[in-house]
Amino acid sequence: MKLPDYNEERKRNRETEFITVNPTINQEYLGKKYFIRTYGCQMNVHDSEEIAGILENLGFIETDSEENADIIILNTCAVRENAHDKVFGFLGRCKHIKETKNKDLLICLCGCMAQEKSVVDEIMSKHKYIDLVFGTHNIHELPNILMNLEPGLNIEVKSNEDNVYEVGENFKRDSKISAWVNIMYGCDKFCTYCIVPYTRGKERSRKSSDILKEVRKLKELGYKEVTLLGQNVNAYGRDREDEISFAELLEEVAKIGIERVRFVTSHPWNFTDEMIDTIAKYDNIMPYIHLPLQSGSDRILKLMGRRYTQEEYLELFKKIKSKVKNAAITTDIIVGFPNETEEDFEETLKVVNECKYDGAFTFIYSPREGTPAAKMQDNIIKEVKEERLQRLNKLVNEYSNMNNKKLLDKTVDVLITGVSEKDPNKLCGYTDTFKLVNVSSGKRTIGEIIKVKITDAKSFSLDGIAE
Ligand code: SAH
Ligand code: SF4
Ligand code: F3S
Repeated sequence: MKLPDYNEERKRNRETEFITVNPTINQEYLGKKYFIRTYGCQMNVHDSEEIAGILENLGFIETDSEENADIIILNTCAVRENAHDKVFGFLGRCKHIKETKNKDLLICLCGCMAQEKSVVDEIMSKHKYIDLVFGTHNIHELPNILMNLEPGLNIEVKSNEDNVYEVGENFKRDSKISAWVNIMYGCDKFCTYCIVPYTRGKERSRKSSDILKEVRKLKELGYKEVTLLGQNVNAYGRDREDEISFAELLEEVAKIGIERVRFVTSHPWNFTDEMIDTIAKYDNIMPYIHLPLQSGSDRILKLMGRRYTQEEYLELFKKIKSKVKNAAITTDIIVGFPNETEEDFEETLKVVNECKYDGAFTFIYSPREGTPAAKMQDNIIKEVKEERLQRLNKLVNEYSNMNNKKLLDKTVDVLITGVSEKDPNKLCGYTDTFKLVNVSSGKRTIGEIIKVKITDAKSFSLDGIAE
């Protein structure tokens, strides 16, 4: 048993080690079925690809129904409180399957919630039907953990883990067209509301040589797109004296010649001119940037520990727009942070009005135990938070609609990723600016970049006809 510990998770004092892992087949699991459900960010989605890769190396095969599974894995997110109910709701279903259909079913919870002490305490007192809780830093140990499972609840959560594990090609990637590539793990920004630095540990960069090797391999395999992943990609390389910067890494990745290169997430603080120049210089670096604002008020930004002012953010925004041709910029915004006044909120609306974002993810502030903001009084009443969210969403949707409408009757390049969810007779894909397009097409062009004429534009998607 190894339980999460906030004090350990806060520490940033160990040297990063680079460790290669390679799970091998185990006859015991041959033909057994696994089911994975994933919540949270791209990081978690990619972790699930790693977990699936490990399980398949061990002999498991995938099933798309939890009812048929021998092992169910819930990869969870802790960034806001509302995820909690969804996860425990689904766990209730798993418990029912175990009690009524399959008493040998293994129920496992992993991801960021596993790193939360309160969650693990709750599981130990009320959810003993769970077989295994493992943390974000324990994924590579999964073969060993499974082999040594004891009857009842097993908890394997490392708290202060600073290593980089290289798993080579041991991913089961969801897509054969577009691939996630981790460039770094963890976060050292410690924005006061955010739990990620605790659940994901110290900022640690992968070696650029390993990243470039992975991207070259993906190109060989025919991938059309890579997305470089990090909680804060601009911090790439800063934890290692001999490493290149993010701008240099981006350039090296672009030179490999994969058709589309993307990255998430970049922090407005320390978004360098070199980064902007590199994005502008290479046609295969997509003109799409996610640039989280969080708040437009300097007072709230300071309380959030975001390290920039409204003026600095707007200056950066304008610089990107002026240097990167047709750049689309999206953002994240939190409303109802402790002590946010109507005037503070109006500063946020002011920035939205200036930036006219292509899109925005908007959230009501959710206190996360163990973070500094959770100690501030959460003093904005629910109705006010909800009313602010509604006003913000209305404005955000107007601008995304307006930006989408600019594409009407234009012909754009779309990377076709699959069949449209809305209409099985249509295909879907993304523009260079990461706008979703539902495409009418006579041909099945999945995996190709094709010319599409845009015929209709809504707030969240576009319609078009293949040319
Ligand atoms: N590394 C990314 C953010 C990861 S979390 C970045 O810095 O941009 C994704 C988004 O969740 C954040 O941008 C923020 O808007 C939101 N978020 C994080 N903690 C939150 C909290 N306690 N309450 C509400 N929203 C939160
Ligand atoms: Fe959280 Fe801030 Fe780190 Fe993003 S940069 S993950 S918001 S602490
Ligand atoms: Fe959620 Fe963890 Fe990502 S808290 S947003 S899954 S890093």
